[in-house]
Amino acid sequence: LGRNILYFDTIDSTQNKANEVARMDAPEGTIVIAEEQTSGRGRMAREWHSSKHKGIWMSLILRPQLPPEKAPQFTLITAIAIARAIEEVTGKEPEIKWPNDILFHGKKMTGILTELHSEADKINFIIIGIGLNVNQEMPDFPEEVREIATSLAIENGKKVSRVILLQHILKNFEKYYQLYLEKGFGTLKVIWESYVTSIGKSIIARTISGEIVGKALGITEEGVLKIQDAEGQIHYVYSADIEIKP
Ligand code: BTN
Repeated sequence: LGRNILYFDTIDSTQNKANEVARMDAPEGTIVIAEEQTSGRGRMAREWHSSKHKGIWMSLILRPQLPPEKAPQFTLITAIAIARAIEEVTGKEPEIKWPNDILFHGKKMTGILTELHSEADKINFIIIGIGLNVNQEMPDFPEEVREIATSLAIENGKKVSRVILLQHILKNFEKYYQLYLEKGFGTLKVIWESYVTSIGKSIIARTISGEIVGKALGITEEGVLKIQDAEGQIHYVYSADIEIKP
């Protein structure tokens, strides 16, 4: 991982660049990283604010020899690697919110955007985009996200070295990716569940096809969220925004 690094001062989106180079056969483990993004992308076509020198804005190219159904698991592996790295560097334990957010005290600090490109029912490549707010102060965030966003420095009470944090993320990612390839998702599911706050709670899941309200039962072996509604019916949710009901 990271033997092939493309580093940019300013770029539109590391995710776009990673897509471009992956199509030109960039090898497994290629990393695209930038100091600043001018059109950072989030999930559900949202904008991702990526101010200069303040965060880790990167995209990672993987080429696992697996069927496309396994792709959601990569978001979860990434979340574990980041959560562990944050703990190692700051001693503070973040929360993971299914599927792709890392939070502190209910405020979002990291988003993960996993994009899959498959061919003939096999993964061709996966791009994992990581947006990690590291050293922003509250005024650095645009006003519309100040209520819901946070940075590691805000939570930690002091600045954090982005280079050291990145080293810890890559080291942990490599470790968990290897574990996953050798042993499957089982052990990782247990680690992941230890960080998750929404399981067992009443939640609202907003998907592109509508809302599901019910109790979050857990995730499947594939990383799919299982929700039981008031009638007892089980729903399997692949992608959604989750809100824990107050
Ligand atoms: C989310 O909606 O929570 C996911 C945000 C992902 C942002 C990262 S920043 C690096 C990479 N490049 C992008 O344009 N987006 C991802």
